Amino acid sequence: MILVTGSTGKVGQPLVAALKKKGVAFKALARSEAPLKALTALGVETVKGDLGDPTSMKVALQGSDKLFLLSSASHFDRLEIGAIRAAQDVGVKHVVKLSAGGASADSTNPLLRAHARVERALEDSGLAFTILRPSFFMQNWVAFFSHGIKAGQPVYVNAGEGRLAWIDTRDIADVAAAALTEAGHEGLVYDLTGPEALGYGEVAQRLGQLLGREVAYVPVPDAAAFQAMKGMGMDAWYAYGMVALHQGVRRGLAEATTGTVELITAKAPRTLDAYLKENLGAFM
Ligand SMILES: NC(=O)c1ccc[n+]([C@@H]2O[C@H](COP(=O)([O-])OP(=O)(O)OC[C@H]3O[C@@H](n4cnc5c(N)ncnc54)[C@H](OP(=O)(O)O)[C@@H]3O)[C@@H](O)[C@H]2O)c1
Repeated sequence: MILVTGSTGKVGQPLVAALKKKGVAFKALARSEAPLKALTALGVETVKGDLGDPTSMKVALQGSDKLFLLSSASHFDRLEIGAIRAAQDVGVKHVVKLSAGGASADSTNPLLRAHARVERALEDSGLAFTILRPSFFMQNWVAFFSHGIKAGQPVYVNAGEGRLAWIDTRDIADVAAAALTEAGHEGLVYDLTGPEALGYGEVAQRLGQLLGREVAYVPVPDAAAFQAMKGMGMDAWYAYGMVALHQGVRRGLAEATTGTVELITAKAPRTLDAYLKENLGAFM
């Protein structure tokens, strides 16, 4: 039995679909009634739990031998390390953790340091582990920018002309599903990217061509991005992490592509053009 956390999110949703397609036994964890009901309606076994509540995680993990670990909260390392302890306590054998490209204890970025702390706790736990370090998600375009693009507004990011090896979260999910259901992924760290590195301006231009109107990208200074994210209600820890990620993009840290998705899934990673075409309706 596999327990999937983050099941309502950008990676979790396609992972639930991939595991369903494989016909393996799994439970999707959610913390509120609406997603629990929606997942049940899809024929998915669910369990209620909150990563911030270790007791609920122990209950949710009962009978599972594998855990897919993902969260997005501020200071998520505390939640995820708590879940690793709960997994140890109930006899889970293998944890697949969704981390991030560039995760490092030496990073100055709080998000990448937090991922590194969880990775370290997992390695030290004695459990079998697989760590997935994806690049930036194509799905961010619908999640974060479609609303503004629909309204004719530019995309504002402090990424300069830096390029990003955008990955489709369905490819991350396919790799996660392989790691959760096949032997041979234990003890490995996978750097996952899409097939092509493109700047925000290039993506905006391609999207504009498909939409038949201009989609503008405006590179903004770090301070403006930081203030804007805080203004939208993001806490300073997370906002600083997001600004620092895009500082890294400007330094070229997000542009390398790897062949790891194809290595694990035997399929070429999905392209950004295909993602934009499939999701065009979200930007209209
Ligand atoms: N976006 C990127 O480009 C990118 C790139 C590389 C790595 N990452 C990493 O990817 C992760 C985010 O993945 P995502 O974009 O798929 O997430 P997401 O779409 O933001 O969804 C987050 C998921 O985590 C769940 N969650 C949050 N707090 C929880 C808690 N206390 N207990 C139980 N579940 C909780 C949410 O459940 P609810 O529905 O209840 O909120 C939701 O299912 C982060 O670790 C991030 O650093 C992101």
